[in-house]
Amino acid sequence: MTSAIFDRIETLPLLSRTPLEWAREALAEPMELLIDHAFLERKAANNALELLTKWPGDWTPGWVETMAGVARDEAAHLALVTRMVVRRGGRLDRVHKNPYANALRLLVRKGQVWEALDRLFVSALIEARSCERFAVLARAAEDEELSRLYGGLFASELGHYKVFLKMARKVAKKTAVDERWSEMLAAEARILDEQPPGPRIHSGVRSRRRETEPVLT
Ligand SMILES: [Fe+2]
Ligand SMILES: [Fe+2]
Repeated sequence: MTSAIFDRIETLPLLSRTPLEWAREALAEPMELLIDHAFLERKAANNALELLTKWPGDWTPGWVETMAGVARDEAAHLALVTRMVVRRGGRLDRVHKNPYANALRLLVRKGQVWEALDRLFVSALIEARSCERFAVLARAAEDEELSRLYGGLFASELGHYKVFLKMARKVAKKTAVDERWSEMLAAEARILDEQPPGPRIHSGVRSRRRETEPVLT
């Protein structure tokens, strides 16, 4: 199953790819990774609930149903991941930071249509990157339960990425959507590359950073 998922990464429009070394390193601290993941699911549920009443203009058909459906899925993922955390003897912290998502949110422009469009794009980007990372984690995990968890979430997050993009195409003209989406994809790859490495779903890649660091003599 994991190789079929791994092959589907190619269909994602992301401008950078995560090497297996990133996953092996992140999986060295599986509990930290699970706790970070649980918080991301909570934030994804919150984000969908927040967007639920933020359609631009008078009404956007399908908007409310889409956001309610995403929130329901993310709450189910949160329950799944937190059960695994607790069963393995871990606990959630009270606070969590995600500098990757925060940097993406800074790209959101003001103004009803632009704000809605950019928020949909930020949501789609986070879903697409999470999807890519889950596929790499599913392939790299030697712990079968973790491999199944990541592989199982892949399809759901892929579906979310697609519905956020579909909604974006409903709220603005095609040329504006395509142009902004290209800009956002480039920004996402840059922002991810700036992240420090560590056991987090949206962390940076240590080996790549090492290669690009200047050699001190
Ligand atoms: Fe999720
Ligand atoms: Fe999702």
